[in-house]
Amino acid sequence: MGGTIPGSTGAPPFVVLGVSAGIAAYKAVDVCRRLVDAGIHVAPVLTERATHFVGKATFDALGSEPAQTTLWDEASPIPHTRLGQRADLIVVAPATADLLARYAGGFADDLLTATLVATAAPVVVCPAMHTEMWEHPAVQHNLAVLISRGVTVVAPEEGRLAGGDIGSGRLADPSVIVERVLGLLGGAPRGHHLGAGTAGGGRSTRDLAGIRVVVSAGGTREPIDPVRFLTNRSSGKQGHALAEAAARRGAAVVLVTTGKPAAGPGVVVEPVETAADMEAAMLSRAEGADVVIMAAAVADFRPKVVQGSKLHKADGVPDLILEPTPDILSELGRRRRQGQVLVGFAAETERVSERARAKLADKGVDLMVANDVSAPGVGFDHDTNEVTILGADGSVTDVPLRSKDAVADAILDRVCALLSAR
Ligand code: PMT
Repeated sequence: MGGTIPGSTGAPPFVVLGVSAGIAAYKAVDVCRRLVDAGIHVAPVLTERATHFVGKATFDALGSEPAQTTLWDEASPIPHTRLGQRADLIVVAPATADLLARYAGGFADDLLTATLVATAAPVVVCPAMHTEMWEHPAVQHNLAVLISRGVTVVAPEEGRLAGGDIGSGRLADPSVIVERVLGLLGGAPRGHHLGAGTAGGGRSTRDLAGIRVVVSAGGTREPIDPVRFLTNRSSGKQGHALAEAAARRGAAVVLVTTGKPAAGPGVVVEPVETAADMEAAMLSRAEGADVVIMAAAVADFRPKVVQGSKLHKADGVPDLILEPTPDILSELGRRRRQGQVLVGFAAETERVSERARAKLADKGVDLMVANDVSAPGVGFDHDTNEVTILGADGSVTDVPLRSKDAVADAILDRVCALLSAR
């Protein structure tokens, strides 16, 4: 193991990889291999029931030391405290509903839960389970308890589950898990690459400290009358994920959104409804910003006349005359101040790359995030996304299907690279 924690004494980071009993345990093998490849000392700890899904011998071969499965067979009389005290970080992948419940409840009746309870190191849990279990209030409550204690959760993705069902609950991609672990350790110990198409690697978790970021999110609502409006399918999830990721990385963030008013810590929310509201908020907020990201789906057209009272069927079908809304991103591009990084999105269903490239040039942005919203699990309202980040400098970064949080981090990695080059 050649890697070190930046600023440490030279020993490689010591990570306990906990594996609990779910079908996704086979993906923990890949997590183990990637961490070892990145120069991490990996101590695998499997619950006894996890060994029904994947053998101890596999982790013996791939980990940095033999895998452990029990409190009772080690030479050390107290393996749970040895591992917990020595760990620089513990990551549990997959974390089943049962494991989360036992950890949240402070149970310590096997080696993995005992190690989790006996550590002061950062802990990352990567839940994986069927959608019904993932959405159960007890599971969500246990997660909330763990988050309130400082545990990091790498959210599961939407996709194919055991038995062929499709839904939320699939273990996050191993590359995403490893990326988060390395981020929490303060960077990749050894010339680490996160795998084809994955942006990032080696960034510090506070690499946006002191940076002012403005993000827009959600679909605007253009009124027809007091009770009806034109809108689109944007939920605001991708914009919210960007704002929250930027705040986690130390930025001062303003989120201009038509979505839910709540956002994570460190994000100031400015709620808006229409394209006109969003334009006013974005132009004013962008004046003092270092980074501006337009993830919102702004309506391109709005009714030319807004009726003052509710339209009634008895009066016949209304003649809805539409007019274009202001192009906020283009205006931000025109007013952009020196050194500011401007990011746009292009949501397309065909000729995606060609159209995104045209928008990159027309709107005067540094990065255009091409989003093929016709692909399964991609774009509007999903918890996952897949994008290609096009740079005005000719760079192209593919970000394969993953959680919107992970996509946000990949975009912010590109933003950080531009900021440090200015
Ligand atoms: O919100 P989610 O459900 O999570 O879905 C995410 C998303 C699909 C909305 C997001 O990833 C995305 O692609 N956002 C851009 C949607 C869009 O409006 O794309 P566009 O190609 O029509 O617009 C190009 C760019 O110009 C966008 O940055 C848009 O914000 C901006 N624009 C568009 C029209 C307008 N009048 N003013 C603008 O500023």
